[in-house]
Amino acid sequence: MRTPLVAGNWKLNGSRPANAQLVDAVLAGVPAAGKCRVMVCPPYVYLADIAQRLQGTSVELAAQDVAEQPDGAFTGEVSAAMLAELGCTHTLIGHSERRTLFGETDNVTAGKFIAAQEAGLIPILCVGETLSEREAGQTQAVVDRQLAAVLDASSVHALATAVVAYEPVWAIGTGLTATPEQAQAVHSAIRSRVAAADAKIAENLIILYGGSMKPGNAAELLAMPDIDGGLIGGASLVAEDFLAICAAAAGTA
Ligand code: 13P
Repeated sequence: MRTPLVAGNWKLNGSRPANAQLVDAVLAGVPAAGKCRVMVCPPYVYLADIAQRLQGTSVELAAQDVAEQPDGAFTGEVSAAMLAELGCTHTLIGHSERRTLFGETDNVTAGKFIAAQEAGLIPILCVGETLSEREAGQTQAVVDRQLAAVLDASSVHALATAVVAYEPVWAIGTGLTATPEQAQAVHSAIRSRVAAADAKIAENLIILYGGSMKPGNAAELLAMPDIDGGLIGGASLVAEDFLAICAAAAGTA
């Protein structure tokens, strides 16, 4: 049985007081423990502040990205060990904005995935196709390639301590959402691909959907058998909306 997980990716938003207020509002309304795991992914510079506010609560902390290297002359980077030290348990890896805007290749993504696990962080591996890839009928091939890059660099066993997030690029921040059927088809294909290597790991693998998930469409997406939660951008910046999605996820538990 997979406990639903809802993670808020705050991206490059907020300020020190605004983000403290946002996390306090989330803490005030989280669903009963055990029904739905709730996680926030603030910008790096606020992680320590937010970690302090989360102490003793059930809300989990994740980073939005991580360095591929453990240490050294890599100006501007933040290592997985540093994130773990601050209280992060998870980190996003290969978000489409990292891939498309910052040129992260499948190889870099695989390297970051391994670096995260080596420091004890659980990677949330983001995969997903662009609109032109979907229109060209390449959705599955793209997602397979992104997944294979990580599996080839480590092994299927690495997915026993990882989360996958399917985020169709065309649905991110656009107000367009994959239909529950479109999302389910990709989620189910991801699970089958993993199952071909290890059925038990596939059965336990949490696969999140991300891309304009909102209170109004969350319940029908989360009702699909292979959608185990959400990775929420815009709606995670409004505590009430984020909590409504968490409540929808808790309702499917
Ligand atoms: P939106 O929910 O704003 O579409 O963003 C999704 C996303 O990229 C989460 O990582």
